[in-house]
Amino acid sequence: MRMSLRLIVSLIVGVTLLSAVFAIFQQRAEKRGLRNDLAKRAEILAESLGANVEPLLAKSSRRNLQKIVTQFGNRERVTGIAVFDKSANTLAITPGLESYIIGELGTVSRVIAGDASYGGFTTLNQNPTYLYVLPLHIESGVAGALAIFHDASFIDRQTARLRREIYLRVLAQTLFIVLTTLLIIRWSILRPIARTAKWVRDLRHGKRVPRPSLGEEDLFKPLAQEVTHLAKVLEVARAAAEEEARLRESAESLWTPERLRIHVRSKLGDRPLFVVSNREPYMHTYRGKAVEVVVPASGVVTALEPILRTCEGTWLAHGSGDADRETVDERDRLRVPPDEPQYTLKRVWLSKEDEEGYYFGFSNEGLWPLCHIAHTRPTFRAKDWECYQAVNRKFAQALLEEMNGAEEPCVLLQDYHFALLPRLVKQRRPDARVAIFWHIPWPNPEAFGICPWQRELLDGLLGADLVGFHTQSHCNNFLQTVDRTLESRVNWERFSVERGSHLTQVRPFPISVAFSEAGEQNPPARGSLYLDRGTLLREQGVEATFMGIGVERVDYTKGIIERFRGLERFLEKYPSYCGRFCLVQIGEPSRTHIKRYHDLLGEVEAEAARINWRFQTNHWRPIVYLPRHHTHQEIQRYYKAADLCLVTSLHDGMNLVAKEFIAARDDDQGALILSQFTGASHQLRDAIIVNPYDTEQLADAMHFALVMDPSERSARMHRLRQVVKEFNIYRWAADLTSGLSEIRLEAHVEVES
Ligand code: G6P
Repeated sequence: MRMSLRLIVSLIVGVTLLSAVFAIFQQRAEKRGLRNDLAKRAEILAESLGANVEPLLAKSSRRNLQKIVTQFGNRERVTGIAVFDKSANTLAITPGLESYIIGELGTVSRVIAGDASYGGFTTLNQNPTYLYVLPLHIESGVAGALAIFHDASFIDRQTARLRREIYLRVLAQTLFIVLTTLLIIRWSILRPIARTAKWVRDLRHGKRVPRPSLGEEDLFKPLAQEVTHLAKVLEVARAAAEEEARLRESAESLWTPERLRIHVRSKLGDRPLFVVSNREPYMHTYRGKAVEVVVPASGVVTALEPILRTCEGTWLAHGSGDADRETVDERDRLRVPPDEPQYTLKRVWLSKEDEEGYYFGFSNEGLWPLCHIAHTRPTFRAKDWECYQAVNRKFAQALLEEMNGAEEPCVLLQDYHFALLPRLVKQRRPDARVAIFWHIPWPNPEAFGICPWQRELLDGLLGADLVGFHTQSHCNNFLQTVDRTLESRVNWERFSVERGSHLTQVRPFPISVAFSEAGEQNPPARGSLYLDRGTLLREQGVEATFMGIGVERVDYTKGIIERFRGLERFLEKYPSYCGRFCLVQIGEPSRTHIKRYHDLLGEVEAEAARINWRFQTNHWRPIVYLPRHHTHQEIQRYYKAADLCLVTSLHDGMNLVAKEFIAARDDDQGALILSQFTGASHQLRDAIIVNPYDTEQLADAMHFALVMDPSERSARMHRLRQVVKEFNIYRWAADLTSGLSEIRLEAHVEVES
């Protein structure tokens, strides 16, 4: 209230002052105008009268002079006229004027003497008067003067009237401006603020209400964005707190982002967290001239993003987007996620040659097929190996620079792109706690032995304090490989390797997704997305009763062609599903620079076309193949609407699609068909487990998924959800950080003893 009073007073004072200054200027200009006008008129009158008077003066006709003077002296606004002779004696004068003009005779004399007219303001009988004196001539020269006295009092009167009008106008203007401003403030600012305040209050009281529209979007955009973020954070925090309370109540121990944050802080203390992976979580790319943000399809990104969001820290990765350099600071860093910054992304730049040798060559044509037994022969080139080493050194350099000044940092290295990094980091920073997580399978020693640089890779990995895999069998394969290849002491009881004075612990950490009810914001109404199926299929020009979904990067390890063959057999064997079942296959093109991947794109496309051609009708085809990038949100719609999800990898470290599908099914519906060669199949026992090479079994599995008793399907999904919920990504991160901190302590004891 006091605030609005102050506002009104300031407005009134401000507007009044401004208007008053303008009024004074206007009044002065008006007065000046009137005076100039009068002077001009006086001059004109004197000139024309002078022309009449001069002949009479020549004739010394005083009678006629008096007649003219009397006649003109009565004109409006003329006080009087006088004609003087050469000695300034009055020859004719308007009656009654004589006694007042004595004071002006000096002026008359000066005009006669100087033969120059004069005009000026004076006071006559206490009246403001304009006097104009004109020298009069006869042939022999100046013969006298004509003086005209104009009444100038009207100027003051008019100025006074004008002043009154101006004051009234200022008053009206001030009132108008103040009232309009107050109304604008009330409607455009106070009302939206009041609405927002009410909304925040409602949120504070736990009510779920949509954000009110703030009308003036431009004006309020920054505020609206901040408040919306704040509200989201509040909502998530509240949900987490409720979840915590619920868990305490039910004595469960579910991992939530909040619990992970506290856990990481208690385990790692103030030590900063550094993560390194090849693939970055946010890529900036050009679309025309605009820059857009892309979240790449990568299991590593899916898994690590929630941890970094929870624990802050710095993530180093290859800056691979074509607009990446436009969005970093001078230290190649930026805060992400772009719309809600929570941690730092440091981009490392690689040359085309680096990428060619390290990423496409050694990592993806060498190590990837080496570790995935999927019948694509690994290719090892000495040049690629050199690049791989050089890029590992480059990342080590960047990481060491970032860690400068950080005491006892914790480092989480990711995947097969960085097998040499643990040793490179540890050599320079023995105080760092270093873990590397291998996201792909580890094959048996015979298979791994194909690699000409297996010893160097193993040595690099064993620089870490902790090496993590998805499953115990990958850990076992790794330990066997070390045992057979390097001079070291493998402890099979403690699952560790000792080389020199360094101890490396090898442990399974089954990776997962961010399944946490606390983290699910605005979950859709139960079943509403399920009904989306018809719409989704219609969008693709297909009508079908049942829908299956497959989501992959187009990679030969994913068994996409095997899946299509399984579908073909299913339609042959159970023809009643022709026209009724449709598989939507989302395929993100991946690593297409590599010939095998490039060819595979064509093979998958051709296989889908072949099967479609065989079965399709006017409004239906068995496979809708979508070979392009899809956002997380787009994929969610398919997950939620599908009857079944097909994961038929020929070999896979874990496979997060299976877990994402389960996490999306909050309706406890949908069946998961899962390859026995995925790490996930060890955990997800309620899935329909298949051998993707067994086409007959695949076909039967699809049939079984569709005819399964609804209560069984729902019970299975319920149990699957319990598993993913319990073993979510926060638990993975918590176990990994616990492992990291514990191992250092044990390692010291062992080294010292
Ligand atoms: C797998 C690997 C990741 C990789 C992802 C996508 O999940 O384990 O390290 O990021 O595939 O592959 P890309 O080569 O596109 O990064």
